[in-house]
Amino acid sequence: MSKITVIYWSGSGNTEAMAEAVVAGAKAQGAEVRLLHVGEADKDTVLHADALAIGCPSMGAEVLEEAEMEPFISSIESLVTGKPIALFGSYGWGNGEWMQDWVARMQGCGAKVIGEGLIIQNAPDEDGLEACRTLGKELSNA
Ligand SMILES: Cc1cc2nc3c(=O)[nH]c(=O)nc-3n(C[C@H](O)[C@H](O)[C@H](O)COP(=O)(O)O)c2cc1C
Repeated sequence: MSKITVIYWSGSGNTEAMAEAVVAGAKAQGAEVRLLHVGEADKDTVLHADALAIGCPSMGAEVLEEAEMEPFISSIESLVTGKPIALFGSYGWGNGEWMQDWVARMQGCGAKVIGEGLIIQNAPDEDGLEACRTLGKELSNA
């Protein structure tokens, strides 16, 4: 059984709702899944997972949240070579640039990024939640 860890930061709950749906999709495939706020995750979390899903909304001006998620991502850059990673997050008014940059960054570290990074504007509706569940399924099969 693959061990998947879903790690997220969310200010107003939209990315958290996405994270819960990613968990549901991966669990439906029989994966062993943990859901952690980024403040609960560290390097060992990453080393012990077969695959990761990481969620963060677009913050600042098209960047990752800077107090917790950005330092966490910096700390794991050398640990993700060959690891399947699904990236996701909510945004408001932008064009998804933060996600494009994040996907390229993780690919540059050698991670096997699943798809293009799933972005949803504001709160996920039922279609959005289904897309998150599908992402979780794809990750558990990666
Ligand atoms: C401080 C701050 C900065 C933001 N910067 C951006 C941005 O650069 N681009 C964008 O599309 N949305 C931006 N947003 C909107 C959030 O990405 C959006 O509200 C998202 O749904 C929040 O997700 P969450 O509920 O998981 O925190 C920003 C929101 C806040 C509070």
